Amino acid sequence: MGGRNIVLGVGGGIAAYKAALLLRLFTEAGHTVTVIPTAAATRFVGAPTWEALSGRPVTNDVFDAVDTVNHVRIGHEADLIVVAPATADLLARAATGQADDLLTTTLLMARGPVLFAPAMHTEMWRHAATQANVATLRARGVAVLDPAVGRLTGPDSGPGRLPEPADIFAAAMALLTPGQVGDDGAPEPLHGLLSGRRVVITAGGTREPLDPVRFLGNRSSGKQGVALAAAARMAGASVTLIAAHLDVPVPDGVGVVQVGTAVEMREATLAAAAGADVVIMAAAVADFRPDTVAGGKIKKRDDAADPVITLVRNPDILVDVVGRRTAGSLNQLIVGFAAETGDEHGSVLDYARAKLARKGCDLLVVNAVGPDAAGVEQVFGRDENQVTILARDGADPVPAAGSKTDVAAAVVRLVAARLAAKPA
Ligand code: C5P
Repeated sequence: MGGRNIVLGVGGGIAAYKAALLLRLFTEAGHTVTVIPTAAATRFVGAPTWEALSGRPVTNDVFDAVDTVNHVRIGHEADLIVVAPATADLLARAATGQADDLLTTTLLMARGPVLFAPAMHTEMWRHAATQANVATLRARGVAVLDPAVGRLTGPDSGPGRLPEPADIFAAAMALLTPGQVGDDGAPEPLHGLLSGRRVVITAGGTREPLDPVRFLGNRSSGKQGVALAAAARMAGASVTLIAAHLDVPVPDGVGVVQVGTAVEMREATLAAAAGADVVIMAAAVADFRPDTVAGGKIKKRDDAADPVITLVRNPDILVDVVGRRTAGSLNQLIVGFAAETGDEHGSVLDYARAKLARKGCDLLVVNAVGPDAAGVEQVFGRDENQVTILARDGADPVPAAGSKTDVAAAVVRLVAARLAAKPA
């Protein structure tokens, strides 16, 4: 991996001295590091230490180097911002978008991933205010590490210790190139392809309740949508994942809006899509929902007939996203997914082409689902996928196969190429 621009924000806590070790790890790995200590941090470790270790000027004053517009430039140029130690105060200021010093203005200008490594006393970490701030930051796609458990400054111990510098370093490197550095250490090929872009991705299977304990669901694991979120994040996009039921964890650095039903997913997707450059709809959305949801658990009764479920049509979210784009004249790239089976009336691709025309999205990622000739399920819950990406403008279909991560990378590359070809 080539050297990158890292901003190291240092908060005002005793663990600030450990940030010097983290800084060393970054510079020894060949990265250029700009250190921005808060005013309180310089009470613990002074600016000369940071300057000597980073080999660069250090300030926390927005009125220094005004001619180079420091408070805008540093955040814009950063490939990654790491805040260690992140105090309760810094987490609060970042969560509420305050901009009262050079570090917080830089955080507001960030275009790449941001990582916070908290350190504070256990009571402060567990306080509802801090936990709410951490949840807010995580929902925005900021990676916030959990503090380590152990001895704190005084006689107390518990969760609140700054994670070890080597662990923060590893988490930071994973955000720069999540898991995808080649054997030769070559740069991750997706890096920067979507930098500055906002991407919304739907994933997982919706669940339509019948009563308080039962629902109609589907077999989607969410793996492909989550792989897309990781790939888009890796490509430098700011990613919002609209997550229905998932069997897999959400990658760090991705903002998540959790939803249950198709109707909830529609609301969340339309809201998020309003400011997005790209919308990718990988969720398995229920086409129908029960027309009524029983208030209590539906009972077996010997004195009455067994219940009959009547279904009503769910909105087609993809069609609605395309409609909003048209109505708002938005310059937005919309990607749909189609899980298809062929039959005597047409092949998988015939059905997919008809769907692409009907839905009006730009790209449609098509895969054949269901058991293969040997009776083995081809897609749902599996780690591999084999797709064809069709384009509405008639461009040649693009095949992609391999792990769901490989397929996600292929989709992201195609999306990035199309965005680059479009005027912004
Ligand atoms: O019509 P079908 O379900 O095959 O279309 C699949 C595509 O449409 C996927 O991108 C899926 O996320 C989206 N979809 C949707 N809302 C629905 C049904 C499907 O957004 N109600």
